Amino acid sequence: MHLARLRLRDFRNYGALDLELCPGFHLFLGDNAQGKSNVLESIYLLSTLRSFRGVVNARLVAEGRDGFFVGGRVGGGAPIELGVYWSPGPRRITVDNRPVKVLADFIGKLSAVIFSSEDLQLIRGSASVRRRFFDLIMVQTRPGGLTLLQRYQKALKSRNRLLKQAVVSPAVLEGFSQELIRCGAELIRWRRTFLPGFSVGAARAYRRICGQAEELSVEYRPKVREDFATELADSRRREQRNRTTLIGPHRDEIAFLLDGRDAQMFGSEGQKRSIAISLKMAQAEHLAGALGRPPVLLLDDVMGELDRRRRAGLLPLLERTCRTGGQVCLTSTEENWRAEWIRDFRCWRVVRGGCRAEG
Ligand SMILES: Nc1ncnc2c1ncn2[C@@H]1O[C@H](COP(=O)(O)OP(=O)(O)OP(=O)(O)O)[C@@H](O)[C@H]1O
Ligand SMILES: [Mg+2]
Repeated sequence: MHLARLRLRDFRNYGALDLELCPGFHLFLGDNAQGKSNVLESIYLLSTLRSFRGVVNARLVAEGRDGFFVGGRVGGGAPIELGVYWSPGPRRITVDNRPVKVLADFIGKLSAVIFSSEDLQLIRGSASVRRRFFDLIMVQTRPGGLTLLQRYQKALKSRNRLLKQAVVSPAVLEGFSQELIRCGAELIRWRRTFLPGFSVGAARAYRRICGQAEELSVEYRPKVREDFATELADSRRREQRNRTTLIGPHRDEIAFLLDGRDAQMFGSEGQKRSIAISLKMAQAEHLAGALGRPPVLLLDDVMGELDRRRRAGLLPLLERTCRTGGQVCLTSTEENWRAEWIRDFRCWRVVRGGCRAEG
């Protein structure tokens, strides 16, 4: 899979950008604050409808403009045209120029994995960052995954709103609880089945990056120990005090261990960075296997942060992606290590909201 065309209108520091992109390796070179990350951000938006920098869409509108448009053509099969139009008023997402109402009909048409300095939050940050990472993999690969997640979140929100009211109707609460348990049990089942295999993939990636130093494992620590319905009912008293739902997969923890020790507490900076990149590599490899084609790999500035060994560990993934008709988009301020990466690549010079093909 690859992105064959990218169109930006009033997106961040781009007034108008039209790029034709072939499969293979693309290098976006430029000084600081020219618009390199913004290009990757727009591609990731086409894949997930989210900014990888965790900002709301209003921030993506070019200053002084009313709304933005990001359009893309997905190649590597029958071409698919994707469009995201956003403004504080009207918003629209389109597939093949037809508006789509259901997000699930849009997300995943272009599959992408981003590597950026924000990834360190996967280890340093709160449990919600880790849950979001695994939820995205579920959305990208499990049929009906997005709908399941949305149903769970909706039931949770309604239930929490109800718990905040002065008088809680038991019948209404029961209705929300049933939906929460139905969807929550599915979510827990998915995490239970998915995580052991993912842990093996992440450990393999970690070994490739760090040699035999230590063993990475991913451990699922579900909030629900045995039976969701029973445990939810048992938490009723505490819920009344806290006025929020205390049991369920929205409270799950997923821990990353190095030789059995929690990396969030004991890992060095370098170890955390290596874990973050291993998780992304495992995500990319899982997507490639599950979808039968490699995702577009977006690497924002990460090469500068990686030492030679880690760069060498990542390289086979980049090469495999390019060899099998996939695409890699990498940003950098310097080109001093490009000979290491790949022989065949396209270079774009990014200057003040413009991209020019070089060479
Ligand atoms: N909504 C916006 N409207 C206009 N300009 C914006 C908006 N959001 C960000 N910018 C500007 O876009 C410019 C480029 O940002 P970007 O993050 O893409 O830079 P970069 O080339 O990746 O730089 P670096 O090498 O420092 O990471 C910045 O000058 C920033 O101020
Ligand atoms: Mg940047």
